[in-house]
Amino acid sequence: MNILSIESSCDETAVAILHADDPKGLKTIPKNPHFDLKSNIVNSQIDIFKAYGGVIPEVAARSHLEAILPALHQALDDANYTWPDIDYISVTHTPGLLGSLLIGTLTARTLAILHNTPFYPVHHLKSHIYANWLNTEKTPEFPLLALVISGGHTQIIKMTAHNNFEIIGTTLDDAVGECFDKIAKILGLPYPGGPSISKAAANGNPEKYQFPHPKVDNYDFSFSGLKTAVLRTVQKELNKPISFPSHELAKLLTDQQVSDFAASFEKTAVDILLEKLAKALKDNPETNSIVFAGGVSANQSLRDAAIEKYQGIPLFFPDKKFTGDNAAMVAAATFYEITSGIKPADPYHLDLLPRSPIH
Ligand code: KG4
Ligand code: ZN
Repeated sequence: MNILSIESSCDETAVAILHADDPKGLKTIPKNPHFDLKSNIVNSQIDIFKAYGGVIPEVAARSHLEAILPALHQALDDANYTWPDIDYISVTHTPGLLGSLLIGTLTARTLAILHNTPFYPVHHLKSHIYANWLNTEKTPEFPLLALVISGGHTQIIKMTAHNNFEIIGTTLDDAVGECFDKIAKILGLPYPGGPSISKAAANGNPEKYQFPHPKVDNYDFSFSGLKTAVLRTVQKELNKPISFPSHELAKLLTDQQVSDFAASFEKTAVDILLEKLAKALKDNPETNSIVFAGGVSANQSLRDAAIEKYQGIPLFFPDKKFTGDNAAMVAAATFYEITSGIKPADPYHLDLLPRSPIH
């Protein structure tokens, strides 16, 4: 089967075509499917938003509008396919920026109607989790715990089977990726903050500044306090009052101070994430795999610390080309919906509300 998927939830216009080596119409989940990613177009708007230090939703939506049709043509060309080769169409349905989502969903719905192709709207976080199934050599075993860490979400999700999700922890305020982005801005590092913090942190001392860990119950997270703690420490380090504007601080910092702040913040964020995951793991001893998902799962310090901390339990990280937003992960999630017997949606009648917390 050939699945064409579209992703446009934030600032990447992405189209992928995934070929799965199973007969069309297969209705059982194969243990080790063979995937051939025929095309994987990711048209990023990062260069546009670098100038602003963050995403402007209206500009993102307009950029998707310009990029979506060329990306579709390119995906078909790369695969050497025409429309009759496509058996299923899927799209990131929610969550994300409304204007951005509308471009992808309307395009996918129109194509599904035009070509009379079964249509699957897929939850964005589910796709991030399923990026871990793109590598079919070794796939996660259930029950598993997924740490979903992106620009918009920070969650611990329990899965007992394919398509079965229970959100057991979530952030009460900011997402961890958002925190990376905001602290990068304070330190004068370019958007997106995650990779630039990591780069600066490589030359820094992670023990130089101590930031408090939030006291939050259960498996929930909080990152707004950490953001404020970094801001206050930068102001103190520079002998500035708390009323001193945050955008004026970066130019007063030396490169070494920037690196030390980046390293100390990164270490604190990683520790907070892994401590909560350890608590969830302790309370769910039947867990067979730990899965990392979302843009922040590209973070190498997090990967190294997790490998060190959780010896004895299989850990899964997406290939780095599938950690950020892309459509290949949407196609992988779609494959497991199709083979689980989940029915396609009606492309004529779709609203942007999720059908369940993470469908
Ligand atoms: O999953 P994603 O691409 O988009 C959303 O669904 O939100 O995640 C984007 C987030 C951004 O906040 C970005 O700064 C962060 O992922 N990120 C990283 C790294 N690469 C991207 N955070 C930490 N370390 C990285 N290497
Ligand atoms: Zn994402």
